[in-house]
Amino acid sequence: MELAPGAVHLPRYLTPDRQRSLVDECRALVDGPVPAYVPVVRGGGRMHVRMLCLGRHWNGRLYAYEPTRADHDGLPAPPLPPAFRALAGEIAGAAGMALDADLCILNYYDADGRMGLHQDKDESAGSIAAGLPVVSVSLGDRARFLFGGLKRRDPVESVLLESGDAFVFGGPARLRYHGVSCIVPGTAPLELQMTGRFNLTFRQY
Ligand code: SIN
Ligand code: MN
Repeated sequence: MELAPGAVHLPRYLTPDRQRSLVDECRALVDGPVPAYVPVVRGGGRMHVRMLCLGRHWNGRLYAYEPTRADHDGLPAPPLPPAFRALAGEIAGAAGMALDADLCILNYYDADGRMGLHQDKDESAGSIAAGLPVVSVSLGDRARFLFGGLKRRDPVESVLLESGDAFVFGGPARLRYHGVSCIVPGTAPLELQMTGRFNLTFRQY
């Protein structure tokens, strides 16, 4: 389902089994030795997600990537698991694009989680110029995902992202504004035994 040139929604891409094992991995990561945390961004606002970056750390105070978490605890970003890299490449391929991911931002949204409209533009100039896609995977509660244009004020489309959905935006859609206006609590598949939502975005720096 192409929302716009380069923007592809793949509903229920992941089988329940794959969702379950990914949720287990996400849980272990966010509560692991390098745990997820609530970033404070430029200007001092706290984000409304718990974040853990894998492969490369995104510093929310600088809007830049770095190897260690200088804005939080100085720990190195955990490596990107090889299976995550493979999954990202598989999904990009299913959307007709190519991606050799080297980083993932894993976010956990509780019932009040959200993310304001923004562009993903902190990856390398070469990656963005090439239109290498961002591959997003959603697990758990449904989210109201907003997908806009290349300017903040452009109209936005609202898409419900459900557990197992993938969403890929690359090529001419790579710099489109997007965000999450709300989570729909209690809508995660029962078999995942979870509250809230994980979202993984895979990128190639
Ligand atoms: C993001 O834009 O980084 C996250 C999108 C989402 O949670 O679906
Ligand atoms: Mn984003």
